[in-house]
Amino acid sequence: MTQGPSVPVPVIAARHDKIPSHEGAQRANNRHSTLGVFGRAERQRGSAVTPRSFDPSAMPTVTMVGGGQLARMTHQAAIALGQRLRVLAENPDDPAAQVSPDVVLGSHTDLTALRKAAVGSHALTFDHEHVPAEHLAALVAEGVNVQPPPEALIYAQDKLVMRTKLAELGLPVPAFAAVAEPGDAVRFGDANGWPMVLKAVRGGYDGRGVWMPESAAAATEIVTDQLARGVQLLAEAKVPLRRELSAMVARSPYGQAAAWPVVETVQRNGQCAVVIAPAPDLSDELATGAEALALNLAEGLGVVGAMAVELFETTDGRLLVNELAMRPHNSGHWGMDGARTGQFEQHLRAVLDYPLGDTTPLAPVTVMANILGAQQAPAMSIDERLHHLFARMPEAKVHLYGKGERPDRKIGHINVLGDDVAVVREKAERAAHWMSHAVWTDGWDPHD
Ligand SMILES: Nc1ncnc2c1ncn2[C@@H]1O[C@H](COP(=O)(O)OP(=O)(O)OP(=O)(O)O)[C@@H](O)[C@H]1O
Ligand SMILES: [Mg+2]
Repeated sequence: MTQGPSVPVPVIAARHDKIPSHEGAQRANNRHSTLGVFGRAERQRGSAVTPRSFDPSAMPTVTMVGGGQLARMTHQAAIALGQRLRVLAENPDDPAAQVSPDVVLGSHTDLTALRKAAVGSHALTFDHEHVPAEHLAALVAEGVNVQPPPEALIYAQDKLVMRTKLAELGLPVPAFAAVAEPGDAVRFGDANGWPMVLKAVRGGYDGRGVWMPESAAAATEIVTDQLARGVQLLAEAKVPLRRELSAMVARSPYGQAAAWPVVETVQRNGQCAVVIAPAPDLSDELATGAEALALNLAEGLGVVGAMAVELFETTDGRLLVNELAMRPHNSGHWGMDGARTGQFEQHLRAVLDYPLGDTTPLAPVTVMANILGAQQAPAMSIDERLHHLFARMPEAKVHLYGKGERPDRKIGHINVLGDDVAVVREKAERAAHWMSHAVWTDGWDPHD
């Protein structure tokens, strides 16, 4: 399939012949009707309200564990679909807790809080992968509709389980090994070359939990320190990268799946900074291969909801799988403005077993640039920066997360659509840099 900028990428339905019927969706909801989790039929029958008032139980409630920006943007999509997104948030000022009227305050590591958040909801899903597996198993046993199911989610929670499974499936992954003591890392580095990569098996994000020691001494220090903190580690060969890509798909319980075009992700300090959709100059062969790999993985692992497959494109033109995320992902933010159906809406459709939306891009190129907190927050308020940005660049689509500015923290993102990759990327990055630093990188001064 062609991924060229002028060719819209169609919805890829793994099983076009199996678009779920309303009855199918109803059955899926009714499966869990025993424990205060209402089916659609019950919602329609059990209403005591007058036809003129709105019955909140007429539309589904989805619980999202985690109150970060992904939950906040999922809430935005839920509003448009007439649904309610309940969030389990640690703090009332978390990005999603600020905007949802239905917040359960508590920790994702507390089963009581998870249970409370699940009561009466039609599906329970996640804005991160850190809920302990035993809590997920308990929720499922109690009849909660956990999506993605824990058996699939484990491959996004534990990098060692994920690497082992992908290797078993014959998929290309970097050389890897478990690390139980410093000697394991040193032997791995000696065999596979220095620098090597050490990763926390669980709990890492935005490059926190990734180290690249250059020597046996450095590796020994990291392993000793992390093991003492109770962090389980994995060793990986450092891959010679041409660039990084992400293949995003969504899949419903019914088995319908849809793919967005494969994108290029640009990382700075181990953290995603820019996404270019579709990935420029990606051969048809690699694009189709990456898309098929993601669709097949979603099906094979039984994923429900959005899934990003982070990929390495090696300097010799091969694709290796880095990691899986089974939730909306930074590499899909471009689609909020750049695709007919964005990832947040698609994730909701998928976890509720609705038919999935059209993923066609709305422009030949969309570039997403993250607004990352500057080392020193600028004196100019963020609101004033936004005024100046809008004055200079009316086409920039801005998404702010309601987060305080801290160095390198993701506080928002900007999408710019257009025809030419270089032009669009320069605009998006200039806009994001302005929002982070209150400095125009091209020296522009509105008062000159
Ligand atoms: N084996 C490797 N070889 C080369 N670079 C790597 C390797 N593993 C990780 N990296 C670099 O470090 C980044 C972060 O690694 P990884 O995606 O495993 O961590 P993470 O913190 O879970 O990421 P995320 O921000 O996606 O949550 C990658 O995007 C890549 O730039
Ligand atoms: Mg990653």
